[in-house]
Amino acid sequence: MRTQVAIIGGGPSGLLLSQLLNRAGIATVVLERTSREHVLSRIRAGVLEEGTVRMLHEAGCGERMMREGHPHHGCYLSTTEGRFRVDFAQSCGKEVMVYGQTEVTHDLYDAQDAIGATILHEVSDVALHDLDSDHPHVTFTKDGRAQRLDCDWIAGCDGFHGVSRKSIPQSVRQEFERVYPFGWLGILSHTKPAADELIYANHPLGFALASMRNDRLSRYYIQVPLTDKVEDWSDEAFWTEIRRRLPADVAGTMETGPSIEKSIAPLRSFVTEPMRWGRLFLVGDAAHIVPPTGAKGLNLAVSDVHYLYEALVEAAAGSMSGVEAYSGRALTRVWGAMRFSWWMTSILHRFPDQSAFDQKVQEAELHVLRDMPSARETMARNYVGQPF
Ligand code: APR
Ligand code: PHB
Repeated sequence: MRTQVAIIGGGPSGLLLSQLLNRAGIATVVLERTSREHVLSRIRAGVLEEGTVRMLHEAGCGERMMREGHPHHGCYLSTTEGRFRVDFAQSCGKEVMVYGQTEVTHDLYDAQDAIGATILHEVSDVALHDLDSDHPHVTFTKDGRAQRLDCDWIAGCDGFHGVSRKSIPQSVRQEFERVYPFGWLGILSHTKPAADELIYANHPLGFALASMRNDRLSRYYIQVPLTDKVEDWSDEAFWTEIRRRLPADVAGTMETGPSIEKSIAPLRSFVTEPMRWGRLFLVGDAAHIVPPTGAKGLNLAVSDVHYLYEALVEAAAGSMSGVEAYSGRALTRVWGAMRFSWWMTSILHRFPDQSAFDQKVQEAELHVLRDMPSARETMARNYVGQPF
């Protein structure tokens, strides 16, 4: 087999890159380890920056998002002293689109089907070869048969646990990581959202978030110790706990119901540099992981795709400037979002080793946000997303 761009991983990064490149006349093959059903079963965040909305339109996947998505012009932060609103529209004239990543992935698959894109599911033993040559190739197993895919470029869109990042020699890679001493227990339920906008709650019992997918599908999270297991938490225990942490007026009126999905996710900040080595580019979670507090995971993946898509279109026309600039351009935006996600996580969670001084500083940081319009503007500009 031969193609121009081999894409390892059929999550949001891989599917969006495949869609954009094929629409630009560049041939791709997506190699995905799991089944289409498994990819579509994943529940992830649901806040899209304007740049992500724009890229989905450019990929021809924006129609259902505009019909079913919900523009949000602000969000709430709450503490035991009450809640206040961060007004995106007033601060920076921008908004975010609340539309689940699962729906984005559905739309990308539908668009890929419509153009007859090549996506091979349930492949195994993927290995990358001759990355530092002009003739890279990928080997893999499909239906029990060993296969070889020759290509010009390889996009490693295979997430944190994929093969691509590890295919860059350890001597070349520099990794940066912070693992947080807690996780998020998340619930999805067919209930009316607790409020019209997201509520991020800082509480002595721990962080909580009230989010949504639509007016009959709510998404909630509470901070839990790393030692907790999802089976430790009945639906009733979850609802009782999140009601303790959300503002009283919200807790008193929120609708509860059976969970249709319940899971615990660990939180980490992670970046690997560089994001390119020879003919291999790292994209999305393959290169970086953010704690979900700032809702940056999918949006960072999309900005990586944007930079790589532009670079590969230029390369097809004979210019290597985009290829040479990819890692630096992507990492500049990655570190900006990494800082913001770390900051949001630091001011909203209770840390086990937090001193009384740390607690007072955290409270002071939240007072600055509550009382200083310029501080809220800075948060708003980072939350809605820096330009690509
Ligand atoms: N070979 C082929 N496919 C692989 C391999 C492999 N060795 N390893 C992993 N994959 C696939 C996974 O099955 C998954 O479908 O790569 C895909 C990676 O998808 P994601 O992990 O979703 O990463 P990405 O596409 O970059 O999207 C980032 O997804 O996980 C969320 O929070 C994250 O919102 C962010 C977004
Ligand atoms: C979600 O709706 O899943 C969500 C929203 C905002 C976040 C994290 C998750 O910061």
